[in-house]
Amino acid sequence: MSNKKNNLSIMEKVVSLCKQRGFIFQSSEIYGGLKSAYDYGPLGVELKRNIMNEWWKSMVHKREDVIGIDASIIMHPKVWHASGHLSGFSDPLVDCLISKERFRADKAPRPQPGDKLDITCMDKGQAKTFAKIIQTKFNIDLNRNGKVLEGLKVIDDSSFGFFKDDIGKPLETFDYKGYVSPSFGSPFLSDERQFNLMFRSQIGSIDVLDDIATFVEKNKNLNGGELRKELENIVKQSAVYLRPETAQAMFVQFQNCQQSMSMKIPFGIAQMGKSFRNEITVEHFVFRSCEFEQMEMEFFIEPGTQKYWLEYWREKRINWWKKFSNNPDNFRYRAHDKDELAHYADACYDIEYKYPWGFDELEGVASRTDYDLKKHAEHSGSKLSYFDQQKQDPETGKNGWRYTPYVIEPAAGATRGLLVYLLDAYTEEAVPDADGNESSRVVMKLHPKLAPVKAAILPLVKKEGLPEIARDIVSSLFKTGINARYDEQHSIGKRYRRHDEAGTPYCITIDGQTKEDNTVTIRDRDTMLQERVDVNKIIDTIKEKLTLS
Ligand code: GAP
Repeated sequence: MSNKKNNLSIMEKVVSLCKQRGFIFQSSEIYGGLKSAYDYGPLGVELKRNIMNEWWKSMVHKREDVIGIDASIIMHPKVWHASGHLSGFSDPLVDCLISKERFRADKAPRPQPGDKLDITCMDKGQAKTFAKIIQTKFNIDLNRNGKVLEGLKVIDDSSFGFFKDDIGKPLETFDYKGYVSPSFGSPFLSDERQFNLMFRSQIGSIDVLDDIATFVEKNKNLNGGELRKELENIVKQSAVYLRPETAQAMFVQFQNCQQSMSMKIPFGIAQMGKSFRNEITVEHFVFRSCEFEQMEMEFFIEPGTQKYWLEYWREKRINWWKKFSNNPDNFRYRAHDKDELAHYADACYDIEYKYPWGFDELEGVASRTDYDLKKHAEHSGSKLSYFDQQKQDPETGKNGWRYTPYVIEPAAGATRGLLVYLLDAYTEEAVPDADGNESSRVVMKLHPKLAPVKAAILPLVKKEGLPEIARDIVSSLFKTGINARYDEQHSIGKRYRRHDEAGTPYCITIDGQTKEDNTVTIRDRDTMLQERVDVNKIIDTIKEKLTLS
């Protein structure tokens, strides 16, 4: 491996391999790419589906007490009023007038009166550029000390000043918002603007712009604030939102699901699919993107049993993630502190993974109380409750108890999970080459059940009838539902390396001996050991390996 490659971080190596091998591509790459949007390539789509199918199997197909749904991505806008997403899912955003950095005001550093406001740039060049912008926009010459711009200080809660030599009266004063930009510490900021994390669209074939244009034409006398309010009302009439989580459909369809399937509490409703968030910070490849996939389940339980079920699902879920991992110790759970809890939760655990930047969230397991069902009942006027004939009402002591179920929610990211398994699988190993010299290989040790392609079928040469035998093997694997790939390009060594990088657990090679005794070699990706197997036993052997894995 070249030195250049060695110096890359694990994240850079995985991102590069994803593109090279067809796991993940930048969206619309030929047009310069769309920020934070990704396309899952031929191997990525298989890996993502395998992860999601395994989740579905474990959460729905292997449980009598969980049923599934596939709800629409666009729901009635009242859903988002009731859930709180329209009011609570918005953040105050601010732009730095110097660096153009955009950030959340409520999370920004807050220097106090008397504190210096040094602007710390990435390097001297950037410091010179920022100093010039400040000089042009605000007519002050900050002192540049390497990459730090000095001379500003907080005066009081609402003003900061430019001081020469840090003493005496300020030469110039400015309005202070009480915070500075997180990356550079700049106090030169725009006004706060509300920013909703939900993607808004319009439903209906008539373009809302026509109504807006007509209104503006007829109301030229309105001031900025009045106009904004009126336009907001026009837009609202046909506004719809792309769901920011899959969860709400399970609350909204609680009654239909429970009644149509005669479910008895405790029971769950599961769903997996796309969610959309206008994230302010998109980061770490597909870790946080604007379009992503979730795997969520709402488990409806009797009030008072939430502690038991929260721990039950925490264990189930963390063990599920570990089952497909090479390094189970890289998973842990962490209880939320009281001030971290979402407004609807009385307790919550994050299942975390040790990413290259440290432990961070992979899945949340939350005890959501009866908040959601009560909110939807209140906003829709529907009775979202459950009647248990076998139980006594704890208040009246009479037989039969009607209550609003509590909910435990394991909410996982499918695309984030895919990143976790890619990082978990990425391995660099020293191995001997064909001549016995030391060389290295990159191998994606994906769990065989998750691997995009289960077996690569490789004729040693492109002649002497070997390709024909190989193609017969491919079609017999296809018939049994095993995803196999025929590959005759390049030397056998290069093909093994290519399939190591693709995470293909088994390589089946057809060679000269195959024609003599009807046997092939099956090479194991991780151990690189080869066994000779009769052609007629290939299907059973691969099936057995996949079942046992
Ligand atoms: N219904 C609860 C809910 O959506 P969340 O913690 O906001 O909770 C659940 O999301 C999971 O969805 C997260 O643990 C994460 O794995 C994934 N997720 C959330 N936002 C994401 C984003 N912008 N990009 C990728 N995955 C995301």
